[in-house]
Amino acid sequence: MKKILFAASEALPFAASGGLGDVIGSLPAAIKQAEKDCDIRVIMPLYDKVGKVYRSRMTKVLETTVELGWRRQYCGLYSLVEKGVTYYFIDNEFYYRRGTLYGEGDDGERFAFFCKAVVDLLPQIDFYPDYLHAHDWQAALAVVYLKCMYADREGYRDIKTVFTIHNIQYQGIYDLYNMGDLLGLHERFAPVLEFNGCMNFMKGAIVCADMVSTVSPTYAKEILSPEYSHGLHHVLEMCKGKLTGILNGIDREYYNPAKDKELVRNFSYMRPEGKKECKKYLQEYLSLPVREDVPMIVMITRLVSHKGLDIVKDSLYSLLEENVQFVLLGTGDFAYERFFDEAARRFPGKMRTLLKYDKELSKRIYAAGDIFLMPSLSEPCGLAQMIASRYGTVPVVRETGGLYDSIRDNGWEGGGNGFTFAPYTGMELYGAVKRALNAYESKEEWEKLVLKVMRFDFSWKKSAKLYIQMYERLN
Ligand code: GLC
Repeated sequence: MKKILFAASEALPFAASGGLGDVIGSLPAAIKQAEKDCDIRVIMPLYDKVGKVYRSRMTKVLETTVELGWRRQYCGLYSLVEKGVTYYFIDNEFYYRRGTLYGEGDDGERFAFFCKAVVDLLPQIDFYPDYLHAHDWQAALAVVYLKCMYADREGYRDIKTVFTIHNIQYQGIYDLYNMGDLLGLHERFAPVLEFNGCMNFMKGAIVCADMVSTVSPTYAKEILSPEYSHGLHHVLEMCKGKLTGILNGIDREYYNPAKDKELVRNFSYMRPEGKKECKKYLQEYLSLPVREDVPMIVMITRLVSHKGLDIVKDSLYSLLEENVQFVLLGTGDFAYERFFDEAARRFPGKMRTLLKYDKELSKRIYAAGDIFLMPSLSEPCGLAQMIASRYGTVPVVRETGGLYDSIRDNGWEGGGNGFTFAPYTGMELYGAVKRALNAYESKEEWEKLVLKVMRFDFSWKKSAKLYIQMYERLN
């Protein structure tokens, strides 16, 4: 039986801040489904955000002390089983009782502790995996510790490691001084972690891992170039032979308009009528004119620059000249928040800006929209375009990363499942939305497209198999 351990800083439904949480909440179960003969477990921090419902289902596995440099830190371990997968939670209130997941001054230490604990606890839980699969910079040091500090120890020797990059923009960069003082790593390992005079957790994992993957084939190519690599292209070029890209899927049960309790009316491609009710509900809820014939463009996004907000800014006022409604949900950089808030004030009959992160409301917006706008400057995979499709909202995306790998333009000869554009300009964005608006005018054409989009298979099925093949290649 294959044994796999995922190490990651978030997983739905316990605690999440973005797409990583979706993936860690659904990929393990999908792998288990595709490969019955495997024992797959996940380990993550026990944040105070993890709700009571889940805490009451947990059992305490152990209490111990983990060494981090000169520190001797308390470490509790809890576990529960969700969808046939064992989830472990590392408890240390000083590190994880912070109200938020990230953004603390000592994030480097918080996640170094997490990674050290992951590797340290294996004998105590009597689980030496065949594959340790770490995700993003917060879990990167697990791979580094394994290779630099534990590899010679009994039980650890045969563990293969995989590191997955969900977003190369966040690397975990800290002062090199911390290598000894915080991580307790001998200076001979400096070449592993050092990058541009600093310690770089992600770079360390890329160098140490037996396999490096990212979340779409196109992004795997893009990050080899300086435009996308955030400095790491030379390192990746060196490691090209072990780099691969596997497209994410979505949890089709969690995102299921036929059963979703957040919606006023459920619907599916067999019975699509309920979608109209969802649109009407949202228009009423947001005090927008209740008009079925007016196309509703929606965006659900973090308000940060790589999501393509600058070109939305450049084209928004032209778009709002059209016969449309525009709903934006998200939080992020203050300058964007102010801009979109102001736009909503200037176009009260057409635009609403909802400055919050609200998972429930987001599902009602996915269900209500006609057009889903996602013009990212870069996008490792992107899940929102897949969720939108599942809820019958036609994506308009920029051709980058996972957006390119998941959405084909409607004009494409094989027939598409959205509208796409490439050059990163407001004009191009406007052009692509305009083509979607033109298609919307022909009711019959649009309804056909909506059904097609809804039926598109963004499940984990294919990708789970690709992950299994990747593990097998390591043997
Ligand atoms: C990150 C990426 C996003 C991807 C997600 C899950 O949030 O920015 O594109 O879908 O990780 O892999």
